[in-house]
Amino acid sequence: MAISYRPPRHAELAECALVWYYAVDGYMARLNRPLPSPYLDPLLILLEHLLATDPERFLVAVRPAGAGSAHGREQVVGFGIAAQREHVWFLSQLYVLPDEQGHGIGRALLTQILPSIPAGMGTAQSPQAGRAASLARDERDAADNRPGILAMCTDSAQPVSNGLYARFGIVPREPVFNLVGTPNPSALSRLPVGVGAEPFGRSDTSAAIDSIDRTVLGYAHPADHALLRRSGRTGFLYRSDDGQPVGYGYSSEAGRFGPVALLDTTLTAPVLGHLMHAIRPRGATSAWVPGSNDRAMVALLRAGLRIEGFPALLCWTRPYAQFESYLPASLALL
Ligand SMILES: CC(C)(COP(=O)(O)OP(=O)(O)OC[C@H]1O[C@@H](n2cnc3c(N)ncnc32)[C@H](O)[C@@H]1OP(=O)(O)O)[C@@H](O)C(=O)NCCC(=O)NCCS
Repeated sequence: MAISYRPPRHAELAECALVWYYAVDGYMARLNRPLPSPYLDPLLILLEHLLATDPERFLVAVRPAGAGSAHGREQVVGFGIAAQREHVWFLSQLYVLPDEQGHGIGRALLTQILPSIPAGMGTAQSPQAGRAASLARDERDAADNRPGILAMCTDSAQPVSNGLYARFGIVPREPVFNLVGTPNPSALSRLPVGVGAEPFGRSDTSAAIDSIDRTVLGYAHPADHALLRRSGRTGFLYRSDDGQPVGYGYSSEAGRFGPVALLDTTLTAPVLGHLMHAIRPRGATSAWVPGSNDRAMVALLRAGLRIEGFPALLCWTRPYAQFESYLPASLALL
């Protein structure tokens, strides 16, 4: 019986989180790096957030009961979800259970959550056109005619996802490194005289943050900032002495660094040092550093962090962000 595709029920989010775990563990185990036992709470919080902000871009692939599904009931075998933030469509998650991979489920989820091609922009399909012609048309149209920018982050160790997305023009363009360790903030210079740090919450900083985001990241995303604060990240707005915002940054006691967005890249090392001083993590710190953010890479290595694992890859159809001025919060929601 065919797999069906539909929006998830709220109660199925935990099943989606397990699909994520088994899908990632499946290929990491082949690389001799199996995942530790699942701790899925942060992913569940993210899935709930995206179900609230992007319900029309969240689909599950379901195997009906009695059609080879485990447990004799309907089973979620894959899911995909994208976040639309202004003109940027960002694929946050696409996962299929290992036993179900390679049969077109990932592609079917992806094509159904991609932005639609405006009427009249696609190539008319002749009744004789076969599946191959139809797929080629979808791919070309995805890169050329879909509105806005398509983007995502992939694992460099995963040729299947990189190959699948690149067929749609969403090509890997830039590495992102995971830096981990216990930082020594005194290795970094202090904020220069004339630059001050204001903790979020003291005044209404939303317009300043939106404006910095549009300059650095290409789009504003206030709902995601609200999620960051609900999830225990503490942030600061940095201003020059004439009161002009020059950037913002977050860290957390759980050791999650970012996002950090700066209008002046010469502030990178002092802002990272300030965040390390202001928020002392209980354990190790982890940060995602785009390769083009050379100042952050040098600063965090100098502060004692070390590169962990394989880099991830930022993929896009057309450039949209100044990654030399940005550290993302995660790879699932920049
Ligand atoms: C990535 C994933 C979601 C794809 O789902 P899937 O159902 O296995 O994928 P599909 O069968 O629909 O399509 C796979 C495509 O990749 C292509 N592909 C596979 N290996 C490839 C390679 N080495 N180079 C280029 N393309 C490749 C296949 O040809 C196929 O394309 P086609 O439909 O044009 O033939 C799934 O494999 C998965 O969950 N993997 C583990 C987790 C993961 O990496 N998720 C993505 C996180 S960014």
